Amino acid sequence: MLTDRQRDLIKATVPLLESGGEALTTHFYQGMFARYPQVKTLFNQTHQAAGTQPRALANSVLMYARNIDRLENLGPLAAQIVNKHVALQILPEHYPIVGECLLRAMREVLGAEIATDEVIDAWGAAYQQLADILIGAEAQVYDALAAAPGGWRGGRAFRVARKQVESREITSFYLVPVDGGAVLRHQPGQYIGLRLNVDGQDLRRNYSLSAAADGRGLRISVKREPGGVASGFLHERVHEGDELEVFPPAGEFVLREGDGPVAFVSGGVGITPTLAMAEVALQAGRPVTFIHYARNAQVHAFGEQLRQWRERFPQLKAWVVYEDGQPEGAEPATPPDALGRPTREQLQAWLPDTDTLHAYVLGPKPFMAQVKRDLRALGVADARSHHEFFGPAEALA
Ligand SMILES: Cc1cc2nc3c(=O)[nH]c(=O)nc-3n(C[C@H](O)[C@H](O)[C@H](O)COP(=O)(O)OP(=O)(O)OC[C@H]3O[C@@H](n4cnc5c(N)ncnc54)[C@H](O)[C@@H]3O)c2cc1C
Ligand code: HEM
Repeated sequence: MLTDRQRDLIKATVPLLESGGEALTTHFYQGMFARYPQVKTLFNQTHQAAGTQPRALANSVLMYARNIDRLENLGPLAAQIVNKHVALQILPEHYPIVGECLLRAMREVLGAEIATDEVIDAWGAAYQQLADILIGAEAQVYDALAAAPGGWRGGRAFRVARKQVESREITSFYLVPVDGGAVLRHQPGQYIGLRLNVDGQDLRRNYSLSAAADGRGLRISVKREPGGVASGFLHERVHEGDELEVFPPAGEFVLREGDGPVAFVSGGVGITPTLAMAEVALQAGRPVTFIHYARNAQVHAFGEQLRQWRERFPQLKAWVVYEDGQPEGAEPATPPDALGRPTREQLQAWLPDTDTLHAYVLGPKPFMAQVKRDLRALGVADARSHHEFFGPAEALA
């Protein structure tokens, strides 16, 4: 329990975190990876290079300091962190390492005059309080995942039963457990963690489940990133019959229950979780608007699945847009409904009445920023407009 004096010291640190939080967390990660190489493999080093993970951590520490008197305000942020941690198997024994390195970084970056022993002690107590909250919440999720029918704890071996090319860039992997047991029914929109060994390098990556739960297996659909270590490995070196280590599903970008209308607006590989959500919504008879932007016919994935859905589900309204236009001589099986960049006019024309509509948006950051802005202007309140990042959460402003 923090004392009043400790709370005041934490609150006094807020301006420093507002201006220098990212420098602090960047220094923290560098120090932690140098001192504890065993935790480096848990982190996606591309997110370190891009600065998105240090920024996400700085933002969460700042939010924590600001809300030190009202921790219940942390709800949504804590849920996001817990889900990400669970899908990457962050465990209680990792927390003292982060705590030690964070306090060390504070001393080194802020200097002895600001980071006095009293300030560091207050932050040590505050870190422990937050760590206890996260460890407790994560333990509950781990226990629930292990206890659920078809659930498991930690890594479970899955065999690649089928590898299906979906476009020039995206390939699906159909995974079934090697033990032949049942598979936990994930919520549509959730993602798994994969632990890969690429030429001796231990890597963890998240992939959204791109099909509704069937109790027997899981499907992920992976875009091959230029120079991408994990996606390149999966595309080129993982074949049907090979085994992959899978952490159980997590994530809170999930289809909200109900029977009201839903819209999915995706760009590129951002289509993956929306496929699972749309499948469940369609099977439940909900009115579904599915809008997908691909660069062109070559990289457009799941066109055939959408065609089948259009035939099967009369309550589906679907639109596909090719942003680069359509190259000569590349007539796709199903022609696009429009060409060019996303516009507000398209959403206005294609969305149903927005009064009760829930919208789910996933794509590159500028795409999501624009679509969310347009949704708001068209009457989809922020509480009904959901999005997710394929990486650490960032501000969309
Ligand atoms: C919740 C969640 C769900 C996801 N779902 C999916 C999904 O359904 N499908 C999917 O395909 N992906 C998904 N992802 C993304 C996925 O986890 C990986 O990030 C993605 O596959 C790229 O990993 P990689 O190892 O191939 O690429 P990385 O090796 O991490 O590289 C990514 C890109 O960054 C570049 N890069 C690497 N290092 C640097 C550097 N130092 N400086 C500049 N550029 C650099 C690389 O050349 C490459 O183009 C999801 C991510 C999250 C968090
Ligand atoms: C109080 C302690 C902690 C806080 C406040 C915290 C906060 C965060 C935040 C904000 C994110 C980004 C979530 C998102 O936007 O998706 C994150 C992700 C992550 N955290 Fe933590 N975390 C803590 C402890 C730990 C510990 C102990 C570890 C393990 C050593 C850890 C490992 C990770 C990893 C691997 C990711 C994903 C990183 C990536 O994708 O690059 N965290 N954490």
